[in-house]
Amino acid sequence: MSEQPHHPSAHPRAVKAVVPAAGLATRFLPATKAVPKELFPVVDKPVLEYIVGEAASAGLKDVLLITGKGKTSMVDHFDRRPDAEARLEAKGDLVRLAAVRRSEELADIYACRQHEPLGLGHAVGCAESHVGNQPFAVLLADEFTDEGDPLLSQMLDLQAQTGGIVLAFIEVPWEEVSRYGVASVEPTGTEDVVRVTGLVEKPARDEAPSNLIVVGRYVLPPTIFEAIRKTEPGAGGEIQLTDAMVRLMNEGTPVHGIIFRRIRHDTGQPLGYLQALVRLASQREDIGPELRAWLKEFVESELV
Ligand code: G1P
Repeated sequence: MSEQPHHPSAHPRAVKAVVPAAGLATRFLPATKAVPKELFPVVDKPVLEYIVGEAASAGLKDVLLITGKGKTSMVDHFDRRPDAEARLEAKGDLVRLAAVRRSEELADIYACRQHEPLGLGHAVGCAESHVGNQPFAVLLADEFTDEGDPLLSQMLDLQAQTGGIVLAFIEVPWEEVSRYGVASVEPTGTEDVVRVTGLVEKPARDEAPSNLIVVGRYVLPPTIFEAIRKTEPGAGGEIQLTDAMVRLMNEGTPVHGIIFRRIRHDTGQPLGYLQALVRLASQREDIGPELRAWLKEFVESELV
């Protein structure tokens, strides 16, 4: 097995992405009673479009959404809307027309249902017949990187070299580790690429092997499906993807991680969602300058 990200690929590079998005998003209730949180707008694009855009930019043009009750509108978002296009064309709003068309052409979108909320591992298991016997990426639907960030591409390249599991990690304050999957790692000799020696889902703070947490990007070999089938419910009574990965690791599958040090937008809870919204809106050419000026005035005012 090669440890060097620059070696030629020994295995096929993944071409499919799976986006588990079946949950009710209780942290956003009551907003998520009728609207999936994946469709919450970040300026004028829903979160899910950023996720699918990230997959497409890394070469994953086949995207399977794992949906659940009341979440069919996520699939509708990627449909053509000839009526909306005609209206924009008639108004001469070519910028917005291009944005609408882009959302329709980003990727081939497929959907399948997770009938019961049995956990992330179970949700990924629902993708088996669509993915088949090839490596694939999993993108959790509430976090995304900046446009053009190479993380997912680097993960796909690394997985094509190792044939194993590739994860991405960030360092968090120790008091947050129990909310995540946590890894123990050792260096590989390549900067920011580590070999994973242990993984544990939502450990108590004093049992966590490190403060390196698994972020919502995974590149997995198809053997994960059998491992998921054999995995018993774990943390929170759910079938955990982390536990299925540990099973494969114990059977000899190589597991690597890339330490991620750039911006990660985490829209999975209200504060992170607002931060993503403000950050991305501030970077926009059209509304950014005015928003930044207003924000400055607002935080300096006595109204805060
Ligand atoms: C899931 C994974 C966890 C990972 C996290 C990243 O947890 O189970 O290992 O660290 O996503 O956001 P969840 O957020 O579904 O509880």
